[in-house]
Amino acid sequence: MSRDRFSTAARRAVYEAIYRRRDIREGYTGEPIDHATLARLLHAAHHAASVGFMQPWNFILIQSGERREQLWQVVDKERRSAAVIFEGQQARQFPSIKIEALREASVVICVTVDPSRRGPHVLGRISDEDTDLYSASCAVQNLWLAARAEGFGMGWVSFYRKPDIRHILELPHHINPIGLICLGPVTAFPDQPVLQTIGWAQRMPLEELVFYESWDRPAPEPGGPWEGMPEAVRNSNFQSPGIP
Ligand SMILES: Cc1cc2nc3c(=O)[nH]c(=O)nc-3n(C[C@H](O)[C@H](O)[C@H](O)COP(=O)(O)O)c2cc1C
Repeated sequence: MSRDRFSTAARRAVYEAIYRRRDIREGYTGEPIDHATLARLLHAAHHAASVGFMQPWNFILIQSGERREQLWQVVDKERRSAAVIFEGQQARQFPSIKIEALREASVVICVTVDPSRRGPHVLGRISDEDTDLYSASCAVQNLWLAARAEGFGMGWVSFYRKPDIRHILELPHHINPIGLICLGPVTAFPDQPVLQTIGWAQRMPLEELVFYESWDRPAPEPGGPWEGMPEAVRNSNFQSPGIP
């Protein structure tokens, strides 16, 4: 046990935010978020890890009904063209994937990535240029968890063609819009992902995803350092996150 660990209540709160976070697509009440709270959420996002401390993000706060309608239109266009890829049951389930949040949420935030931020040689990004995207994803996750703790729903919409978003939001060509984030009070937080509820996909058993020492080894060597780990993974779950 680390002497630096949080109190039991604080640790439970962290896990609670993680487990009770949801991607919320509908049921936004539209009530405004006060500026102090929204600023707190944006600070949480801005305190994410970033490669070479690059901080590649910007947050475009969008309130205008007209602009939100334009965003809805381009997302709907993309959603309809994506729908034809799916067949059978998935084609029938596809309309359950809602985008009304773009119209109904209290605020829409376009999160962008500027790959040129801090110049051409960002520490850590030299060997993997996607690390700017990983960094901005950390920022969105911070926002998501902080929003959940504040009682706000949040939905990440990425069904769009980037040139459409660049046009509507007047982004320079090199700026990458990675998400339209819908945010605000909602009528309910489902217990499980909507895609799970509609039968699109299930959460995979974690023990199938943990390998030991090299790829595709889901069972550790008997007597080795990982003996008992698969059982520990299986027994520690949402109902019992194992916080002593
Ligand atoms: C990078 C990213 C992009 C996403 N884009 C969309 C999207 O365009 N439309 C959508 O319905 N959900 C989108 N989602 C939400 C996922 O469908 C959702 O996170 C997943 O089903 C698990 O549900 P949960 O977030 O409630 O746990 C996105 C999530 C991530 C992380």
